Amino acid sequence: MQVALVTGGAGAVGAAAARMLAADGFHVVLADRAIDRVQGICSEIVDAGGEAAAEPVDLLENGAVNRLIDRLAERFGRLDCVVNNAGMTGAPRIGEVDLSVWNAVLALNLTVPMLLAQAAHPLMKRSGGGSIVNVASRVYLAGTGVAYTSSKSGLIGLTRVLAVQLGPDNIRVNAVAPSFLNTPFNEKIVAENAGLARSFRKMSPLGRLGTAEDVAGAIAFLASPRASFVTGDIIHVCGGTQLAPQPTAFDEAV
Ligand SMILES: NC(=O)c1ccc[n+]([C@@H]2O[C@H](COP(=O)([O-])OP(=O)(O)OC[C@H]3O[C@@H](n4cnc5c(N)ncnc54)[C@H](O)[C@@H]3O)[C@@H](O)[C@H]2O)c1
Repeated sequence: MQVALVTGGAGAVGAAAARMLAADGFHVVLADRAIDRVQGICSEIVDAGGEAAAEPVDLLENGAVNRLIDRLAERFGRLDCVVNNAGMTGAPRIGEVDLSVWNAVLALNLTVPMLLAQAAHPLMKRSGGGSIVNVASRVYLAGTGVAYTSSKSGLIGLTRVLAVQLGPDNIRVNAVAPSFLNTPFNEKIVAENAGLARSFRKMSPLGRLGTAEDVAGAIAFLASPRASFVTGDIIHVCGGTQLAPQPTAFDEAV
């Protein structure tokens, strides 16, 4: 059975992706520091007939990534998919950047995916190849949040480099770039700016916010053989909000 590792598997997007990958036949490993939540989601997947294992881990701890991959190698002997989903925001404006927050955001959103790719590469190669899916964000196009945008833009760059370097070992590397989602990740931002969710809804030609399941669908596609010739690419799960807005004069003309 193929094995998929999902970081941040206790969060909204991670849990939705893990459920979908389990339904697609992967044995999913959910890695998260939220111990109770990750075990709960794991049990849900197993109760629904899927195969799942919880890995309670703080990915920012020294050596945590290597220990995690060593445990997977020992337990399963293979690894076919890595979903780099754990992420955090912080340090929105340049004048407010606290170096410790900047370092934490860059470490979780960019350094951990690099370390995971490095540690997972030999095991994935031995497994015959596979797929790495990096959960980036629409912010790489928009410039929202100093540390967050920098980290997610870096993750897009990492995706492209890894696609080139790991392709010869049959490892595809892609990213999904979701827009503002209807998940608890945004609770604080919405509390501070109630109009933001409304603006995103209006910006989308589809007229709604994205959900964790919308993102999970793109992740599951990229993890599947249906995406067998797709690498180095970015799927915008943005409901069209990645497009430049229509000029008003054009609106009137059509
Ligand atoms: N929600 C959005 O609007 C949105 C939009 C674009 C991109 N994203 C990206 O999607 C991903 C998931 O977002 P979400 O909405 O599911 O967020 P979430 O907060 O629900 O999930 C994030 C998960 O990561 C885990 N995590 C955080 N730090 C960790 C650490 N050090 N070690 C292990 N686990 C850790 C948390 O416990 C949590 O379960 C993130 O990378 C985020 O940047 C989210």
